[in-house]
Amino acid sequence: MEEKRKLFSAVQPSGAVTIGNYIGAIKNFVALQDEFDCIYAVADLHAITVRQEPAALRKNTLELMALFIACGIDPEKCVLFVQSHVPAHCELTWVLNTITYPGELSRMTQFKDKSAKHAENVNMGLMDYPVLMASDILLYQAAAVPVGADQKQHLELTRDLAIRFNNRYSDTFTVPEPYIMKGSGAKIMSLADPSRKMSKSDDNPNGFITMSDDRDTVIRKCKRAVTDSGNEVRLSEDKPGVSNLIAIYGAFTGKSAQETEKQFEGKGYGDFKLAVGEAVADALAPIQAEKARLLKDKGYLNEVMKRGEETASRIARKTLSKVYRKVGFYQGE
Ligand code: TYM
Repeated sequence: MEEKRKLFSAVQPSGAVTIGNYIGAIKNFVALQDEFDCIYAVADLHAITVRQEPAALRKNTLELMALFIACGIDPEKCVLFVQSHVPAHCELTWVLNTITYPGELSRMTQFKDKSAKHAENVNMGLMDYPVLMASDILLYQAAAVPVGADQKQHLELTRDLAIRFNNRYSDTFTVPEPYIMKGSGAKIMSLADPSRKMSKSDDNPNGFITMSDDRDTVIRKCKRAVTDSGNEVRLSEDKPGVSNLIAIYGAFTGKSAQETEKQFEGKGYGDFKLAVGEAVADALAPIQAEKARLLKDKGYLNEVMKRGEETASRIARKTLSKVYRKVGFYQGE
């Protein structure tokens, strides 16, 4: 049987998961699970680059694992694990650090944004975040990495590091391709300010919808969403608010922008926003119910994580020992 290409991605358990995370990443994790050999992680090592409350981090880790499965990721088809359970991620990070230049990391947009936002806690981990991310991907020889558009720069660094290592020490890593959705789903914008990315760390909770928001909250946030002047539901660069809602509506109903435009022809923003809210709430309800059911079965979630840890460790160890051999670490010949 032909071996499928490998795919890796991860999400941080750093609080609420937004519909931006879902549309830009998790929804694709589900869609790609038959085509690729998929490995998905809860990136807790990344999460601690900004301050986390330990009890909340533990809870969010379990919740994210449950959410992955509730969204439709099949643990029988994919490897699901928690990043800190596989020490090879930190071990490879150390080696890759020795071929990474500080200038490459200090000019990363996310580092600059997060340093500004967490000025009291600009730590080495925050700066090294992309190298840890490169290790995640390269350990599994992933050919494809589904992410939102905001991760593109990190993926480019991952490719640079893979090529740099391969050139210096001979072919070792698969050079991965980012898998970023075409169109506006790759970057869902804030409902409160459509010039900014939808983000769970937004100070204004009306800017984002989380995967656990209840029906009333979802509908209220959609109704309040900032739209543009005029009243025509049309995808257009000069209508960033409406275009963002069209992308969200499309992601949850499967409708193309043209279909949505046609459906709301002659109707105002009010009708459209209500329909978006209802579509999102309808789609979230079964996911929330399944997540709640899974969280009651901690034994099952622990078992999935354990199995994931074992498979992930096996693959990661293989790459790591190759790396250790190539860089000249004595391995008891
Ligand atoms: P995180 O948890 O910040 O985001 C998880 C995924 O959600 C995407 N995303 C969005 N997509 C569309 N619109 C948005 N508004 C939006 N906000 C977030 C992100 O692009 C991401 O795909 N560093 C990663 C986690 C990670 C990782 C990895 C990813 C750690 N190691 C290895 C890929 C491969 C991150 O941003 O997580």
